[in-house]
Amino acid sequence: MTFSRSIKIAPSILSADFANFGMECRAIEAQGADWVHVDVMDGHFVPNLTFGPATCAAIRPHIKGVMDVHLMIAPVDPYIEAYAKAGADVISAHLEAGPHIHRTLQAIRGAGAKAGLALNPGTGLEDVAYLLDMVDLVCVMTVNPGFGGQKFIASQVEKVRRLRAMIGDRPIHIEIDGGVTVDTAPLVAAAGADVLVAGSAVFKGGSVENPGPYGDNIRAIRAAAEAAA
Ligand code: DX5
Ligand code: ZN
Repeated sequence: MTFSRSIKIAPSILSADFANFGMECRAIEAQGADWVHVDVMDGHFVPNLTFGPATCAAIRPHIKGVMDVHLMIAPVDPYIEAYAKAGADVISAHLEAGPHIHRTLQAIRGAGAKAGLALNPGTGLEDVAYLLDMVDLVCVMTVNPGFGGQKFIASQVEKVRRLRAMIGDRPIHIEIDGGVTVDTAPLVAAAGADVLVAGSAVFKGGSVENPGPYGDNIRAIRAAAEAAA
C-alpha cells in the first residue's frame, strides 16, 4: 500500500448480497472499486450485527486490492490479531469503543496492519491530537454507525476540514463513511477527504448478474469528488 491522496472509492459490502460476498467483491473491483470496505458490527457497540473474522478470511482471496476492515465492536483488543490474520490491510477501531484507544492503535500496527481511527459524528477532534503519529487513516463517520442507507450529517464537513489541517504533511488518509453520494462526495473531497466509503450509493441498481450499475455509480461518485478535490 503506497500512500497517495488521490480519491479512492471504497464500496461497503454491507450493501452487498450477504449470500454472495466473494462474487460481490470481484464484481465491485472489476467495476473500478479502489478499496473494499468491510463493516464488522457486534450488536453491542452498535445496534446491529454482521459477521466476524472467519467471514473476513473467507472474503480475502476474492479481493485483489485493499481490504479495509471497520470494527464497530467493543471490546476491540481481544480480536485485533484475528482480523490481521484474516488478511485485513487496514483495521479501524473506534475512539469511543473503550478507554485505551492508544493501546488499541499500537496493537493494530503491532499485528502488521495499517491503523485506522474511526470517529462517531458526536466526537470532537481534541482527543485525536495525541494519536496522529500512530495512525495511517482517520475515518470520519458521517452517519451514526450501525446501518447503511442513512442520511449524511453535514456538520461533519467542517470536522474534515479541521482534521485535514491538523494532519498537515503526515501520510494519513481521511476516510468518509456514511451517506456518501454524488451530491455529498464533493463536499468532503473539497474539505480534504481521500477515501470515500459508499454502500447504498454503489450497490443500487446492480447485482452480481448485472454489475454494470456498480461501475456507473463508482464512476459518478469519483467524478463528482475529483472535480471538487
Ligand atoms: C455504517 C457503516 C457504513 C455503511 C455506509 O455503520 O460503517 O460503512 O455501510 O453505508 P451507506 O453508504 O449506505 O451510508
Ligand atoms: Zn464502515
